[in-house]
Amino acid sequence: MADGGYDVSDYCDIDARFGTLADADALIADAHGLGLRVVIDLVANHTSSEHPWFTAALAAAPGSPERDRYFFRDGRSGGEEPPNDWISAFGGSAWTRVSEPDGRPGQWYLHLFAPEQPDLDWDQSAVREAFDAVLRFWLDRGVDGLRVDAAPAMAKQPGLPDAGHVPGARFESRTWVGNPHWDVDGVHDILRRWRAIGDGYDGDRLFVTEAVVRDPERLSRYVRPDEMHTSFNFDYLTAPWEPRRLRTVIDESIAALDRVGAPPTWVLSSHDETRHVTRFGRADSSAATMGFDTGRPPADLDLGLRRARAAALLTLALPGSAYLYQGEELGLPEVEDLPDEALQDPTWERSGHTARGRDGCRVPLPWSGDTTPFGFTTEGIAPWLPQPTSWAALTVAAQGADPASTLSLYRAALRLRRSVPALHAEPLSWVSSDDDVLAFDRGPAFRCVVNLSDRSIDLGGQDRVLLASGPCSGSLPPDTAAWLSSPGEE
Ligand code: BGC
Repeated sequence: MADGGYDVSDYCDIDARFGTLADADALIADAHGLGLRVVIDLVANHTSSEHPWFTAALAAAPGSPERDRYFFRDGRSGGEEPPNDWISAFGGSAWTRVSEPDGRPGQWYLHLFAPEQPDLDWDQSAVREAFDAVLRFWLDRGVDGLRVDAAPAMAKQPGLPDAGHVPGARFESRTWVGNPHWDVDGVHDILRRWRAIGDGYDGDRLFVTEAVVRDPERLSRYVRPDEMHTSFNFDYLTAPWEPRRLRTVIDESIAALDRVGAPPTWVLSSHDETRHVTRFGRADSSAATMGFDTGRPPADLDLGLRRARAAALLTLALPGSAYLYQGEELGLPEVEDLPDEALQDPTWERSGHTARGRDGCRVPLPWSGDTTPFGFTTEGIAPWLPQPTSWAALTVAAQGADPASTLSLYRAALRLRRSVPALHAEPLSWVSSDDDVLAFDRGPAFRCVVNLSDRSIDLGGQDRVLLASGPCSGSLPPDTAAWLSSPGEE
C-alpha cells in the first residue's frame, strides 16, 4: 500500500486487508447476478518492491537475469549520480540506489513512480510470459475486462537517454509526455499481445487503458482495432470550463477515435485528479494532475457544483462511453483540509510536503447517517481517510430522498441515456449558438444545451425540457445544462 495498492507483490492473490480469492470469486458472481460487469486494474509497468522478483533482484549480482527483469544500471559520476535525469511522477529522481548484497552502495534501479514501485523491463520475455499467465488467471476467474494502468510507461527508449529535465524539475504530466520513458511506440506490442489473449475468451471482455498522452491522435493509437477497446480521455478531463476549449476537445476526440473505429470516451474525475466540483469552482478550472495543484486559491463550491451538474449532462449526452468516478454522483468536493498526519499519497513525502497529493479525492463515500463513518465502515471504526462532518448532507440516503439532489440528477440522466434511442445511435451535430453556449443535437429528436455564459438563454418552451441540471423555466441560467426533446425551430 505504498501507493494505494498500485504496488503489487502478488498478481494472483488478494491483499488480506481486502479479503480472499474466494471473496473475489463471490463478488464477481454477485455482480454478474446483478447484471454488473467487473473490470480489474492491471498494474504491469511496475511491481511492488516486495514482489519476490524484486527481492531476488536485490539479492542477485549486477548483470544477473534476476536484475534484468527490472532496470538496474550503474550510476554516473563514479556511481554517485542517477543513471539519467528522469523524474518520478511523485517528485524527485526516478532512480534509487541499492546496497549490494555485500553492503556496499551499488547500482540504481528505475521507478517512474515511488521507490516501492520498481519498473519492469518489458523487453524481457520472462516478464511478458509471466503477465500472459496473470491475464489468464483473472480472465479464467470470470472478470469482464482489464483497466491497464500507466500504459504509456511500459516501453522505454533504448539506452535510456536523458529527457532534458532541469535539475529539480517537478512532475507535470503534460511535460512528461513524449519523454524517452513515455508513450514510446514499443508499448503497442504489449497491448496487442494482451488483446490477442482477451480475444481468445468467450463473451465480451473489455480492455481499457489509462493513457495520458499528448493529444487525441496519440491516444487513438492505443485503441486501434487490435489493441485496447477503449481509453480514458484525459484531454477532456483536464479541459477547463471554457466553451471553445471543450468544443475543440470534443471535436478532436470524436474525429481521432473515429479514424481508428473506436468509440469516444469522456471522463471528468478520477482517483488521481482534483474532484471536478472543486476544480470547476476555481478561477483556473483546468486540472493539474496527480495532486500537484496545492496552493490554488479556494474554490467557490456553489459555482463548482452548478458547473459539475451541467458538465454531467454534457458528458452523458456525448456519443460514446462515459466513465463516472465514485462520488461524483453525490457532487462530492475535493477534501482540501485533510490533516497532514492523515495523508497517505506518496506525493506528499516525495514533494517535500509541497504537494498534498490525491487523498482529497479518495475520501470514502458517505452512505447514510448523520455522523462519520456515514455507513462506510462499522460504527466506531475510522475509515482510512477522515470524512468531513459536513458530508452528512451528502449521503446516498439523504440525496436519494431528494429529487433535486445531484444523485437524483445522475439517476435521471442515466435512465434517459438508456431509454432515449437517439443517445445510442445518432451522431453529434453542433447547433449554431453564441460562442459561450454549447448546443448540439443527437439526431432530430434530442438536443443538449449547456450555458457557459453569464446570462440566461431562451430555450423556446419549457415543455421540451427532458432534464435540466438546475432550476430552469423556459430559460436556461448560467452554468446550467438541459436536455431537450425535438429541437424544433432554430
Ligand atoms: C494510477 C495511479 C498510480 C500510478 C502508478 C496511475 O496511473 O491511476 O493511481 O499512482 O498509475 O501505478
